Formats: sequence, C-alpha cells, structure tokens
Amino acid sequence: MATAEQLKALLRSHSDGDDDLFRSVALQIAAHQASRGHERLAKEIRDLVDKAKRVQQPAGRRAVPIARPSGELAGLVLASYPSTRLGDMVISNSVKARIEEIILQQRQGDLLRSHGLTPKRKLLLVGPPGCGKTMTASVLAAECRLPLLFVQLHSLISKYMGETAAKLHHVFDAMVETRGVYLFDEFDAIGATRSAGNDVGEIRRVLNSFLQFLERDDSESIIVAATNFMDTLDDALFRRFDDVITYELPDGEQIRQLIQNRLTAFDLSGIEWEDVVTAARGLSHAEVARACDDGARAAVLSGARAIHTEDVVRVLGNRDGMKTTRPRKK
Ligand SMILES: Nc1ncnc2c1ncn2[C@@H]1O[C@H](COP(=O)(O)OP(=O)(O)OP(=O)(O)O)[C@@H](O)[C@H]1O
Ligand SMILES: [Mg+2]
Repeated sequence: MATAEQLKALLRSHSDGDDDLFRSVALQIAAHQASRGHERLAKEIRDLVDKAKRVQQPAGRRAVPIARPSGELAGLVLASYPSTRLGDMVISNSVKARIEEIILQQRQGDLLRSHGLTPKRKLLLVGPPGCGKTMTASVLAAECRLPLLFVQLHSLISKYMGETAAKLHHVFDAMVETRGVYLFDEFDAIGATRSAGNDVGEIRRVLNSFLQFLERDDSESIIVAATNFMDTLDDALFRRFDDVITYELPDGEQIRQLIQNRLTAFDLSGIEWEDVVTAARGLSHAEVARACDDGARAAVLSGARAIHTEDVVRVLGNRDGMKTTRPRKK
C-alpha cells in the first residue's frame, strides 16, 4: 500500500490539475513498492504512468482560442481554465495578502458596486523570472472562477502601428464581452519592438496606445500585466494600474516550503535545511521546483524512499550551474 502521505499528494496533484506532479508522485509510489519487493505492482504502476503520458495531448492542451464570428481574436488570445489555487503558491505574507485582497474584492464586486465602488482589477506584477507572476494570473482566474485569457503579445505587436492599435482594440473589446483574467505576460515585449528595428518613438506609441486602452477600459475583467523589468517601465504606466505587486526570490523559509511541497512523497526527515537553503540561495521558485523534480526522478530510478541533504544540494547546484551557462533572459 502507498503511504497516507503519498495518497494525499496524489489526490492533491489531481485536484490541482498538476499532471507533472501527479505522474511524479505515482512514480514515487512505484519506487516505494519496488523497494519493498513488490516489483510486479511497481511495474504495473510505471506502465500505467507511461500509458497516461502517451495519450496525453501536448502542453497547454486546455487552451483553446476564443472563437469569434469575425475571427479577429483568433491567434491573439488563448483561453484556459486553470485550477491552481492560492494555497499552491509559496509567497511572502505581504504578497499573499495583496492577492487575497484582490480575490475578495472580486468576489464581493456587487457589494462594492452597490456603494459606487469598483474592485481593484488592473494589476502590474513585477519581479525576477520564475517567482510566480504568471502563476498568480492562473490563481486569480481559478479563485475568481474566470477563464484566463492569455494575450499573445508577439501576434499583437505588428510593425505597423495602426495594426497594433486595431488588435489592441479587439482585445479590449473582448474584455467587455467575456469577463476573464486578461494576461499581458512578459509585458516588456512591448519594449522589445526596439530590436525589430523600430525607433523609440514607435515603442512609445505602442505603449501609449496600450495605456489609453487601459485607462478607458471599464469592463469587469481583471487585467494583469507581468514584467521582469521595473526600470524600463515609466511612471505613466504605474499610475494606470490599481495595484503593483513586486515578487522576490524565495527566502529560506520559502525554499524549505517549496521543497517540502514538491517532494512530499519522500522521507525528508534527514535533511539539514541550513545546507539546502544555502545551496538554493539566488535560485527562483521555478528553479527550486525543477531541481526537486530532478531529485525525485533520480530517487525513483534508484529506488530510494528518502532524500538526503547531499541529493538536494547536488540538484540545486546543477540548476545554479545552468543559470550561469544559459543565455540570460534579456
Ligand atoms: N511563488 C511560487 N510558489 C510556488 N511555485 C512557484 C512559484 N513561483 C514559481 N513557481 C513554479 O515555477 C513555475 C513558473 O513560474 P511562473 O511562470 O509563474 O514565473 P514568472 O514569475 O511568471 O516567470 P517569468 O518572468 O519567467 O515569466 C510555476 O508554474 C510553478 O511551478
Ligand atoms: Mg511569466
């Protein structure tokens, strides 16, 4: 039998719709069984996981383009229905409180409106890569029971200003018609038109156009813009948002929490957390999570049930190494 912890982890990953974690926990159960001499059961579980993986569609499978009779939005926006909950995020109390406040205001929107007030809904998320900005947009959608509408900036930004403005118009029209969380991810891509040979004036016009739409928008949709770069954004931008939330790399306690959440099916009782936290310093949440997955894979393949300090330190070190050899994001 799988342990109670393993079963809980399996159920949690299923209800969160986290297929990767679900498979990882199932493989961990297989390893656990193998280590107890139940080779046949372990193989059956592994085969089932393999089979499930083969029939699965590619990533983002739940995303479908919003169909419109005129088709203007096709390719501009992708809709999905995330199930990530706020409790899945490992974040500081202050960021958590800000997100909770937004969710509460959305849920109590009618009450606010009946008093002539509107819920906060234009949000700018700023911070280093892999710290949960995109995840926050998914959480807002799931917690407010709204679709997540991912604006495809690369399709939106054309080298012809008139075209870009027309496309933005379609997206902002959709916000009125279909209430949802509209995510302008990697928002700094608007600034990336610079590398396409456009002059600074051109970039400014795209940005101004966005700001005008943002200012005029009085839909009930939530608009989320996410960026890595605080410095490149000007003051005019900040003023247009109801809230600016800043994300940071995980601190020691968050690193520990992330690792415990991710390796929940393993015995971690022997871990020296101080050493692990030192090895993880400077890594993002996403990198710590990926390192844990590396560690889980290695442990499953070697049939280990417990993960030790040196295992975690090694996979964290590998991630850190990748960070310095990989071309940095802009
Ligand atoms: N705060 C967090 N808590 C738990 N897991 C996280 C957190 N941040 C990131 N992750 C993990 O890392 C993955 C990637 O994070 P996400 O896409 O939200 O980062 P991001 O801040 O949007 O990065 P980028 O700037 O590169 O777009 C998430 O799907 C999740 O698995
Ligand atoms: Mg992101």
